[in-house]
Amino acid sequence: MSRVDWVSAAGGPLRGEIAVPGDKSVSHRALMFGAIADGVSHIRGFLEGEDTRATAAILGKLGVRFETPAPGERIVHGVGLHGLRGSSDVLDCGNAGTGMRLLAGLLAGQAFDSILVGDESLSRRPMRRVTDPLEAMGASIGTNDGKPPLRIRGGAGLKGIAYEPPVASAQIKSALLLAGLYADGFTEVVEPHPTRDYTESMLKAFGWPIDYSPGRARLEGGHVLRAVDVDVPADFSSAAFFIVAACIVPGSEVRLKAVGLNPRRTGLLAALELMGADIRVENERNSGGEDIGDLVVRHAPLHGVALPLEIVPDMIDEFPALFVAAAVAEGMTTIRGAAELRVKESDRIASMAHGLKACGVLVDELPDGAIIRGGTIGGGSIDSHGDHRIAMSFAIAGLVASAPIAIGDCANVATSFPGFMELANGVGFRLRSAA
Ligand code: S3P
Repeated sequence: MSRVDWVSAAGGPLRGEIAVPGDKSVSHRALMFGAIADGVSHIRGFLEGEDTRATAAILGKLGVRFETPAPGERIVHGVGLHGLRGSSDVLDCGNAGTGMRLLAGLLAGQAFDSILVGDESLSRRPMRRVTDPLEAMGASIGTNDGKPPLRIRGGAGLKGIAYEPPVASAQIKSALLLAGLYADGFTEVVEPHPTRDYTESMLKAFGWPIDYSPGRARLEGGHVLRAVDVDVPADFSSAAFFIVAACIVPGSEVRLKAVGLNPRRTGLLAALELMGADIRVENERNSGGEDIGDLVVRHAPLHGVALPLEIVPDMIDEFPALFVAAAVAEGMTTIRGAAELRVKESDRIASMAHGLKACGVLVDELPDGAIIRGGTIGGGSIDSHGDHRIAMSFAIAGLVASAPIAIGDCANVATSFPGFMELANGVGFRLRSAA
């Protein structure tokens, strides 16, 4: 058992307005496109997390200058499409799969060599899903048996390809589109299920001609990106912990402000609605091409469901929180078609199943999901396996548990959600650091 970092005790009701930090996916992309654009881009709402800061530090080593006028803001001095310079340092992506996979695409098109490394968790994650198609474009990338580090040879001379990834992954799609900026001819990605389209919409905003519709994107190499300002919405995946928390704690009512509502991210709302949740979207509007809105969430008794397969990709990061909702719901919840969860920051099916079982919940693990019998959650000691979303999910489980839940290895919460504990305690959690 890893070190106990947090103890979450029964709390609530949850009340108040909550502004969660900026979107991780959008923040990574804004840095990368700003870096290779002509001109100066101002990013507001930037996620000050370890993952996105790692991407900024890497781009800094490649010659991009950033200013931080205030926390949550970056001014990016773009160096132009061909302005990055090689670094003799290894480039450390930390815990960030998005950082590493997208940068692999960007760096495959450069004239210089690069080495991308990651922490222990990232070093276990599969990279062939991006290196294979990038090699089909002409890149040369060495791996450690398909895992990081990635040794990317520069000067490869890429050619556009048409590619159908075997799994629905915005990271694969984005890596290929980034490489496609530097390739001869057209690069096209056709997905088995549409994924988040931030890369496509941001390329368009930065002035690159791109043709896209849900599940399909096509662009041609050799154009230019022109700097634009980016307003980053609040991260739906961070809001998800408070959405589920307010659903399950009696008497709760919270308002989550200005949350990104890209339809490829909001599958959790559909899942919770099927389970009987009371969630309203208010003040819906568009900001910089993205739908945003306030979410008003009230407690409601939940019941188990067989989760429709088609919403799985639209809530891929929200499953740890959904497992907790299912553990509280009346009856059985069945999750299938979610094998991708096994290759996230931890094996999220195993991490959630073991943790919930340690708290007395009946869970059957399946290769691609789980069957969870809802009822009451007991106290216990769980290991987050260094996975930010597992740690925060057990923090919400603790709110309704019959005894405190001790949670190990929580430091990586800072990768995506700095300040989670303070924000949570401000609306009614009883979460503390273990002495
Ligand atoms: C992301 C894509 C998803 C998601 C990750 C962020 C992105 O990963 O899980 O947190 O920003 O493109 P996959 O592409 O592996 O599904």
